[in-house]
Amino acid sequence: MTNISGLVKGLHHISLVTSDQELNRRFYTEVLGLRRVKLTVNQDDPFHRHLFYADEKGTTGTAITFFEWPELPRGYVGLGSPHHLSYSVKGVDSLPKWASWLRANGVSVSGPFPRDDKLSLYLRDPDGVLVEITAKNPEGVTADYLKGLEGSEVKGVTEDMRLVKFDHASPLSSDSHVTHKFLEKLVGLESFSERANPDQEGTSLAEVGSPDNPGFLKYLTSPGARTGMVGKGNIHHIAVAVEEDEDQLKIKRSLDDAGIRNSGVVDRFWFKSLYFRDPDYNLLEVATKKPGYGVDEPPEKLGTSLVLPKWLEGSRGKIEAALRQTDLQGSGAWPPRYEPVPSPPESLHVRQNQLA
Ligand SMILES: [Fe+2]
Ligand SMILES: [Fe+2]
Repeated sequence: MTNISGLVKGLHHISLVTSDQELNRRFYTEVLGLRRVKLTVNQDDPFHRHLFYADEKGTTGTAITFFEWPELPRGYVGLGSPHHLSYSVKGVDSLPKWASWLRANGVSVSGPFPRDDKLSLYLRDPDGVLVEITAKNPEGVTADYLKGLEGSEVKGVTEDMRLVKFDHASPLSSDSHVTHKFLEKLVGLESFSERANPDQEGTSLAEVGSPDNPGFLKYLTSPGARTGMVGKGNIHHIAVAVEEDEDQLKIKRSLDDAGIRNSGVVDRFWFKSLYFRDPDYNLLEVATKKPGYGVDEPPEKLGTSLVLPKWLEGSRGKIEAALRQTDLQGSGAWPPRYEPVPSPPESLHVRQNQLA
C-alpha cells in the first residue's frame, strides 16, 4: 500500500456560489481587501463566470473562488453543504479594527468569541456566506477588552489587518469517527482531535489535518445533522493542497483501491484537480500547488481581464455574449443588505439562509 501520510499540506482554495459578481467583487476586494487574481469561466459550465480572490500574489491557501450562478436557488447549510470558512489575521489587535471597518460598511458582525487559543469575529458576505476572521491570542486578551477598542474610524484594510490565509473550513459530519478514518486512510490526514462545540450543546468540533498544520478541516459534528443543499450563498467544495502531481496520483490510487468514486485528475490549467466526496457527501478536492495563477498573466495583470483556458478560446465570442446577457439582468444595490450573523455563530441548528 502506498504511503500517503503527510502529502496534503493544508487548504488550497475554497469555492462557493454567488448570485452577483459585481457585489461579490466589491465585497471581497473593497471590504475584505483581497485581490481578484483570476476572472474566468467555470470550466465545467463555461457560460458562467468563475471568480478568484486571493492575496496579492495568489498564494496557495488564500484563494476564495466563486461560481456565478444567479439562477440557482438559495442553498442551506447541512451535510454536503459546509457551514463556514475562516481566514486568519496576524494579531488580535486587528479584530477591533476589522469590526469597526465592517460596521462602517454596513456589514453585520458578531464577536469576538474565544476559540481555544484564538479569538474570532463572524460576518456575512452579500450572499449570506458565513465568514470567520480569527487571530491567535497568546496573551489571553479578553473579548470584552477588544470590544472596548472598537469605534475608532478605520479608513480601509491596513497592512496589519490583512487576511493572511485560510485558518480552516467547517463542513458538517454525522460521525466524526467515520470522517476521521476516511480522511486518515484515504487522504493521509493523520492529525485528529475532538472536543465539545461551545456554541451548541451535544455537538462537537472534530479537527482534521496534518501534524504540522492540524485542524484546517474543522468538522461540526452531530449524529442528528441534517442534509443541506448547495445553492447561492454556500460553499460548493473545499480544496486541499499537495505539492506534486505524483502526490495527487498517490491519493487517487488510494481512493481507487478503496472503491471511492472520484473524478480522476482534471487539468484546471492553474492547477490539477481531483474531486471526491467524504462520507457525508461534502465535495472535496485535492489540488496541486503548481503551476499557479501566474501561468497565463503577468503578476500585475492578474484578474483584470477574462482569461480562458486554451481549449475554450475558440468559443470566446459565444462565452462573452452569454456573460453580457447575465449582466443585463442587473446587479443589486451597493451596499447590499447584509443578513445578521447566526447566534451563536457555530451552532448547527441555525440553518444558514433558511429564511431566504
Ligand atoms: Fe470556525
Ligand atoms: Fe476547486
